[in-house]
Amino acid sequence: APPIAEDVAALRARVGQWRAAGERVALVPTMGALHEGHLSLVRQGRAKADRVVVSIFVNPTQFGPGEDLARYPRTFEADCAALAPCADLVFAPQAQAMYPPGSSSMISLEGPATAGLEDAFRPGHFRGVATVVAKLLLQCGPDIALFGEKDYQQLKVIMRMVADLFMPVTILGGETVREADGLALSSRNRYLAADERARAPQLYAAMQRCAKAIVAGDDPATVLTREEAALVQAGFAVDYLALRDAESLGEPDPARPRRLLAAAKLGATRLIDNIAV
Ligand code: PAJ
Repeated sequence: APPIAEDVAALRARVGQWRAAGERVALVPTMGALHEGHLSLVRQGRAKADRVVVSIFVNPTQFGPGEDLARYPRTFEADCAALAPCADLVFAPQAQAMYPPGSSSMISLEGPATAGLEDAFRPGHFRGVATVVAKLLLQCGPDIALFGEKDYQQLKVIMRMVADLFMPVTILGGETVREADGLALSSRNRYLAADERARAPQLYAAMQRCAKAIVAGDDPATVLTREEAALVQAGFAVDYLALRDAESLGEPDPARPRRLLAAAKLGATRLIDNIAV
């Protein structure tokens, strides 16, 4: 397993040595329960920098009251084993180290990047994400940090925050890694019962049909309504299936790149996905 830093002092000592040797450092923030989606980001970090730090921290402030914080999968031993070939350091702080008693600063964004979509269904979620990512970036001081397009709105929120606060780091996005049947890899997929797992790829299939029809010139509102109904028919409880501007996440303009974003529940498991249009 790679060396493990459990506090900020140990993290900074190690990163400081690398910097002193002129090496470039990449950070990949995660909540553990690692899969190929995470590992692809780690490998991209390795390709773009000399050293890769992977943080593993299940961040309490980004979970809402009714959400799965307590039962979020924790597989630390297996995570470290999976990182052995591709990471130089694992940063695994305790909650106390990230949010010491008395800590009271939180980062919240306003405007189109955080409005609607996930924020409408998980109020406060991006406040927790922005806060913990800002802490991780300040603790580690990487040259680059990598985030998955799987969480497209999260990627946009982080890019916005880094630009707004003049943080000296380059944010890079990595393509969504999928199962052979199209289901986007997620730490939460393990919650799916067998019959739900069998139906789960229909989300991506419906999104692909949407994108194809919209690119072919069909009216987006009509297409979205039709495919949302098909998903409901297949047993999904759809939170949203929405077409947005790919950059701003504001209203889409056919002359500019667009992004189709979706969130839907199968039983108790909430799936999110997005594709370029
Ligand atoms: P987590 O869900 O563990 O994801 C860590 C990173 O892996 C995120 O950038 C996410 O977008 C990326 N990722 C997840 N599934 C992926 C897939 N199938 N393909 C490509 N990348 C994928 O996202 C978080 O943790 C947290 O919100 C975090 C940013 C760590 C802040 O707590």
